[in-house]
Amino acid sequence: MSREKDFVFNNSDKRILDNGNITGKSPSNIALVKYWGKSEPQIPKNASISFTLSNCFTITTLEYSKKGTLSKRQNINVIFEGEEKEEFKPKIEKFIERITNYVPFISDYDLVIRTENSFPHSSGIASSASGMSALAFCIMGIEKKLDPSIDQDYFLNKASFLSRLGSGSAARSIEGPIVVWGKHPKIENSSDLYGTIFPFKIHPVFENFQDTILLVDQGEKQISSTVGHNLMLGHPYAKSRFKQANQNLERLTEVLQSGDIKEFIQIVESEALALHAMMMTSDPYFILMKPNTLKIINKIWDFRKKTDLNICFTLDAGANVHVLFPKGEKGEAETFIRNELVSYCQNNKYICDNLGEGVENVI
Ligand code: PMV
Repeated sequence: MSREKDFVFNNSDKRILDNGNITGKSPSNIALVKYWGKSEPQIPKNASISFTLSNCFTITTLEYSKKGTLSKRQNINVIFEGEEKEEFKPKIEKFIERITNYVPFISDYDLVIRTENSFPHSSGIASSASGMSALAFCIMGIEKKLDPSIDQDYFLNKASFLSRLGSGSAARSIEGPIVVWGKHPKIENSSDLYGTIFPFKIHPVFENFQDTILLVDQGEKQISSTVGHNLMLGHPYAKSRFKQANQNLERLTEVLQSGDIKEFIQIVESEALALHAMMMTSDPYFILMKPNTLKIINKIWDFRKKTDLNICFTLDAGANVHVLFPKGEKGEAETFIRNELVSYCQNNKYICDNLGEGVENVI
């Protein structure tokens, strides 16, 4: 298992590359056991586990060019879907500052970051996981050019490590199909520093699991996740919540191997509601669910009762609903979603996704 200091790049020969560019594609992920609460620097208060997605992704091209020898300041430009975005710069600059210790070569270059998402910008789908992991992947591409001897495991672990410093949940987007992030006694090699692939054999029922994302509210997030995480410091239920999450991860570890899908549903839905319960009981309190979020949840519960099919929901930090179901129930689930749930989505919009494998190089 790697430690923090293993990720410091040693550029003793001061090699600088010629100008170039690297393109990476990285997906979003959806947590089954949620991460909510952290300490510096982006260390999770509990372990979490997620499905890596496939169709919701960010493609980023990082153009690097040698900084003029006289200019001290590094220029960073961010171009999002073809338009220069000044407002994205502070977050990226902060990220670059945070990771410079580990990738000191980055300050030798001026950077242009061109990025686009496969999902609509204002869809309420968090782009930080896919965005930060795509950028981290590109930066590791520079490291690999400087030191071609680094192996694939190190490359991926460090890409996840860097992603984490941009956005905690991004640490879980580098690989797939199921990733754990956060040290957990029952999961060997799990780490607070980076995500690792779920190390046990997954039951066939969970292979190619489906996630249809119902876009209930496509507006800007009411509250940033940084503010939300910080509200867990001093939260009256924080300690029990962190314990509950670790216990749920332990249960889920069994379930993912045994294929006990009924138990899977209980854990996953309870986690989603626990996340939102933390938000509703923090000081200040807030509610990210919308009336249609609850209508969808109730429809799913009714449908499940009526049909005994294995459709369940989870939520992210927002009003959108992720409807999860096995590949084998795709036909019935999609008919139900189309006929009964889509009308609760803003402009009837939804995205069909499924498990994926993480980052990819794009040539
Ligand atoms: O990665 P952040 O700091 O934006 O945190 C996101 C946390 C949740 O999405 C709400 C839950 C999770 O584990 O992904």
